[in-house]
Amino acid sequence: MVKENKTDTVLQEAANEFLVRYGGDQFPNLFSSAKGSLVVDDSGREILDFTSGQMCATVGHNHPAIVAAVEEAGKRALHMFSGMIPEVVAELGLKLASWLPSPLKKSLFVNTGSESNEAALRMAKMYTGGHEVIALGGSWHGTGAGAASVSYASDRTGYGPTVPGVYVMPEPNSFRCPVEHCRDACDNTCQRIGLNMFDMASRGEGAAIIAEPVISAGGVLVPPDDYFTSLKQEAVKRGMLLILDEAQTAFGRIGKKFGAERFNTTPDIMTVSKTLGGGVPLAAMITTEEIEQSVYEKGFTFYTSHVADPLPAQVGLAVLATIEKENLIKRAADSGAYLKALLKDLQQKYECIGDVRGEGLLLGVELVKDREFREPDHRLGALTTERCFALGLSMNIRRRPERGSVWRIAPPLNVSLNELDRGVAILDQALSESLNELAH
Ligand SMILES: Cc1ncc(COP(=O)(O)O)c(C=O)c1O
Repeated sequence: MVKENKTDTVLQEAANEFLVRYGGDQFPNLFSSAKGSLVVDDSGREILDFTSGQMCATVGHNHPAIVAAVEEAGKRALHMFSGMIPEVVAELGLKLASWLPSPLKKSLFVNTGSESNEAALRMAKMYTGGHEVIALGGSWHGTGAGAASVSYASDRTGYGPTVPGVYVMPEPNSFRCPVEHCRDACDNTCQRIGLNMFDMASRGEGAAIIAEPVISAGGVLVPPDDYFTSLKQEAVKRGMLLILDEAQTAFGRIGKKFGAERFNTTPDIMTVSKTLGGGVPLAAMITTEEIEQSVYEKGFTFYTSHVADPLPAQVGLAVLATIEKENLIKRAADSGAYLKALLKDLQQKYECIGDVRGEGLLLGVELVKDREFREPDHRLGALTTERCFALGLSMNIRRRPERGSVWRIAPPLNVSLNELDRGVAILDQALSESLNELAH
């Protein structure tokens, strides 16, 4: 259904004139609303959202339980002095602890993933007394100075020096092995090489190794099953903490409660964000009683305007309750298997689909010019993504020259099978039209 007055050109001009362009692909239209797995643009056109907003809306956009939680917070309290702990924040701490693998227990509630990682890094440094941090190639941990310093999928040029003491380790990418060793099955050589290089450079002042369980912005890379058990042992050997950044993987996205569960590894610190707030800014850094007690005694602070705020906490409780009530972890596993099978069928049809990978409803589809040499097909990726949008499907493509052209497909966990069919049909049509266009 298209609105009578078409698009609002005054607002489009205002967006161009008054807003800072903050990077990434931006769409030509403005957007007016969102519901379930759909977003609606300013012409009234409904678009299937295969990115869950910015990977946050796992329970679907504007879920009634979230709307009710926002209303409830409106009646009780939106914000308080940071030294006051609202009742609802204590309730969320208790609830979250019931989800977490032991001995993770103590939560600090903040707003963004970036902040949660800043807090994690500060805590790891204070606890260990070291400052060296290793992160994986292709990682994305946020835009704060500390988090950006350990992010290797984001732009690093033009912003001055990074925080001292950061190291990069090649990521486990079996499709495009960064050490050019494996093909299709990673044997952890990248981890061994990365740690050896770190040991050569280290001043023996290690604080942490930080990693995403599934390296998402780096191209939806799923490490080998034993990757994190080994990484944890290596961290312990060096007196470093393991931080798992579960911004995208926690609370059902990959068909498990956490990446920690999927990879059988409990980190010393876990950070969660996007999928805890369901679209409202809520994040948490979680650690053990022992680490919390130790840094408390050393004077740990992470005091922000919105630390432990009641509004996002009320929403976080609603998100966790909805995931439980609607059985969304199982649903993500089932719908993810269904969607992966549809994408594998597409791979049979199109030579340009080099790889289909991922877990649950966090899937990656990598485009190549040919399957043998795997040269990335960035033009095809960009053109098809544009065409998908014109046909009513929002897709996010990760394009890095050295990392390939990869669609990250992550619809809400309660997406219907019908919507998945519709999305894949659009992708099929868009791919076929784009290939035709490039051939002529
Ligand atoms: C794994 C991961 N960690 C941290 C962040 C940063 O979160 P935020 O954008 O909320 O600061 C992101 C954002 O994309 C992410 O994907």
